[in-house]
Amino acid sequence: MPLERLISARQLSVDVLHEIFDMARKMRTVCQETGRTNLLADKMIGLVFLEPSSRTLLSFQSAAQRLGAGIVFIQGVGSTSFEKGESLSDAIKVVSGYCDLIVARLPKSGDAQIASDASNVPFINAGDGGNEHPTQSLVDTFTIIEELGALSNLDYAFGFDPLQSRSIHSLCLVLSQFENVGFDFVSPPELKAPGWLIDQCRSRSVRVSESSSLKDLKDPDVIYLNRLQEERFPDRSLFEKYRYEYRLTPDQIPPATRLILDPLPRVDEIALTVDELPIAGYFRQAQNGVYIRMALLAMLLGRSL
Ligand code: CP
Repeated sequence: MPLERLISARQLSVDVLHEIFDMARKMRTVCQETGRTNLLADKMIGLVFLEPSSRTLLSFQSAAQRLGAGIVFIQGVGSTSFEKGESLSDAIKVVSGYCDLIVARLPKSGDAQIASDASNVPFINAGDGGNEHPTQSLVDTFTIIEELGALSNLDYAFGFDPLQSRSIHSLCLVLSQFENVGFDFVSPPELKAPGWLIDQCRSRSVRVSESSSLKDLKDPDVIYLNRLQEERFPDRSLFEKYRYEYRLTPDQIPPATRLILDPLPRVDEIALTVDELPIAGYFRQAQNGVYIRMALLAMLLGRSL
């Protein structure tokens, strides 16, 4: 069945992943050779971003415009009728009359499903609170496969806020489908990966371990870090307690590590000196966001190159 709405990384089967990756490679060629195409010249994309974003918002804007589509957008609630008390469902229902596909970043876990249910057009979850960020998991897996040639037979370390990082949640859901993978979650004791995620990974035969210190890093092929999710801490003192303790420096990277990723923004979790290493892939990862999001927009609108 064609993908029309992307709410969760649970929808991203291995076949769907490879279909999107193939399309993303073609989109990369378009960007490199001509910069744009008219594939979606008759389409209008609605961007509803009620939480801050740089990469996801701009890469979707770039993707839509490189495909020739028009854009309507809401950025932040301040200048909108949300300020007057309009519900998410009503707003999305209205916006879906103005465009052919909606991309939404929403503040609460579960908002993406509510918004998709209200939308009369295809819908993409661009991050719903601390729940999921499925398009980021596509960017991440595409980067891993382009850099290392595979997603299976690899050991991954995830830090440092697996409890609240929607990017870690969605990436683990996707990677857990692959053969012979190991996940080591590195975090303070209060920020351990949620039980539902650990259960899901174990039910799919992932080797799961947890560590509370960078010193205990196993020998991962891929280190995937995400900042402590400052805006989601109920108790700010907990964020302050750990923000500088959990920071990757070059001397802490095990010798067999082949790739370091971070969905960004980087705050304290990676020292600037790591950027100089060839295995630091996070800026290449951000660049891949455009190709993946071009592929997704085309696919959900039933178009292909
Ligand atoms: N990776 C990511 O979602 O970044 P933004 O919050 O800047 O969109």
